[in-house]
Amino acid sequence: YKRITVKSLVDMKKRGEKISMLTAYDYSMAKIMDGAGIDVILVGDSASNVMAGYETTLPMTLDHMIYHAKSVVNAISRSLVVVDLPFGTYQSDPKEALRSSIRIMKESGAHAIKLEGGKEIKESIKRILHAGIPVMGHLGLTPQSIYKFGTYTVRAKDEEEAEKLKSDAKMLERLGCFAVVLEKVPAKLAREVAESVSIPVIGIGAGNGCDGQVLVVHDMLGMTKEFNPRFLRRYLDLYSEMTGAFQRYAEDVKSGDFPSEDEQY
Ligand code: KIV
Ligand code: NA
Repeated sequence: YKRITVKSLVDMKKRGEKISMLTAYDYSMAKIMDGAGIDVILVGDSASNVMAGYETTLPMTLDHMIYHAKSVVNAISRSLVVVDLPFGTYQSDPKEALRSSIRIMKESGAHAIKLEGGKEIKESIKRILHAGIPVMGHLGLTPQSIYKFGTYTVRAKDEEEAEKLKSDAKMLERLGCFAVVLEKVPAKLAREVAESVSIPVIGIGAGNGCDGQVLVVHDMLGMTKEFNPRFLRRYLDLYSEMTGAFQRYAEDVKSGDFPSEDEQY
């Protein structure tokens, strides 16, 4: 395999080839994903929800993210690895944002960072890009601002927010970001944004007009049960499969069926 780079992604958009992206937080999952040909692996701060069981992404620390990122990087031979800057590690000032990004790049070996927001964090994005660190933007529903929004419903449905999103996307392109995630915005708006910028727009709940798609791996594998947004397509029902496996194992242990003659020394 040829390694995916930030440049390959921009070339893919030019060719009209869609970009596949999934989240991963550990070595074993990332190894399967990399082998399966997923273009971009996002070490998302959604680790807070699916790995650690928190209600929001806010508790995630830089040390947590670096641990997950390093575990993923250890598995990779082709995919591009992007790591979320967690809440509170880039919002106060550009220097802090750069310091956090450098720690991620140095200590995990990842290839790029992602952060949430538009013009509010312009100076931070500039600073990080100046240091040679590729940046992926994230607009629309930005879960680190959940207490400002109040709900996880679709963003940018009104004209004012849609206009801000469009100009933020333009700004991210102008600054030199290599891609941008659009989360939970109307499909029509996402398509418009994708057509207006040369960098890839990766959608989650943002419709088919995007240049690529991203899902949280636990959701697409059907490991999560209560999370049922319209945009989620489940490719497996791992919740049931795993429940069955655990139950059969417990039965086999209790009945003395496991281990058999062949399964011992
Ligand atoms: O943390 C995450 O999983 C994300 C994706 C949903 C884009 O940011
Ligand atoms: Na995230």
